[in-house]
Amino acid sequence: MGKLDGRVVVITGAARGQGEQEARLFAAEGAKVVLGDVLDAPGEALAKELGEERAAYVHLDVTREADWAGAVAVAKDRFGRIDGLVNNAGILRFNELVSTPLEEFQALVQVNQVGCFLGIKSVAPEIGAAGGGTIVNTASYTGLTGMAGVGAYAATKHAVLGLTRVAALELAPRGIRVNAVCPGAIDTAMSNPEGVDPAATAELYRGLVPLGRIGRPEEVAALALFLTADDSSYITGQPFVIDGGWLAGVKLF
Ligand SMILES: NC(=O)c1ccc[n+]([C@@H]2O[C@H](COP(=O)([O-])OP(=O)(O)OC[C@H]3O[C@@H](n4cnc5c(N)ncnc54)[C@H](O)[C@@H]3O)[C@@H](O)[C@H]2O)c1
Repeated sequence: MGKLDGRVVVITGAARGQGEQEARLFAAEGAKVVLGDVLDAPGEALAKELGEERAAYVHLDVTREADWAGAVAVAKDRFGRIDGLVNNAGILRFNELVSTPLEEFQALVQVNQVGCFLGIKSVAPEIGAAGGGTIVNTASYTGLTGMAGVGAYAATKHAVLGLTRVAALELAPRGIRVNAVCPGAIDTAMSNPEGVDPAATAELYRGLVPLGRIGRPEEVAALALFLTADDSSYITGQPFVIDGGWLAGVKLF
């Protein structure tokens, strides 16, 4: 028996990285998964690999309300209903605040913050109609603390936690739990910008992170599974940090 047997879960940004691992794990735990992304080729390939009876890919730019309506329609058409959502899609840009172009700031707000809002707005009524379920938003440890050089990103991830708390309050009467994952550094394309030497990155995290390494996307997927499955049945409105201890405090040696 899987932890998500009979569940239908929409996952955004599912073509690669953490979203891909969430899709793989959720499907392995018995869920039907609707994979949304703007990277159509890898998204379609993943859905094909997971199997038609278990997975469907849909082009879903999370900033576009019409795309959300399309994703809801695909989910209902293929699997009958929706009772879970993982708002995972996100983008990151490095810039000091005083050097950040307005367009860049607004692009991050659109994808990370508006995308999460539109996901809640579009999918929560469906989850309610299905009798309840779960929403997992993807914030970041920069949703709980500052980090120089990622001001726009940190602002959007703080906003995701605000959305999470308000949605938890508003949706509890409909039987919908809403929580957030707050990953630290996770080994995906996002944290490996082109031109950065992987050996230097590994060395950096050995010193910075108490557990001595960067996190794996599979580890975040395991947390998203916990927050989607009944194991977390009495938890809502909470941020869950998964960062190898980075936020625990300052490490001098
Ligand atoms: N990797 C990290 O260190 C880290 C740390 C904290 C939080 N996060 C968050 O985790 C989430 C997943 O990131 P990841 O690490 O897997 O990075 P990633 O870049 O590998 O994956 C992000 C996915 O989101 C998709 N995406 C981007 N814009 C989109 C849009 N407008 N509509 C739909 N999909 C879109 C991308 O195509 C990609 O498939 C993001 O929200 C990110 O902010 C990542």
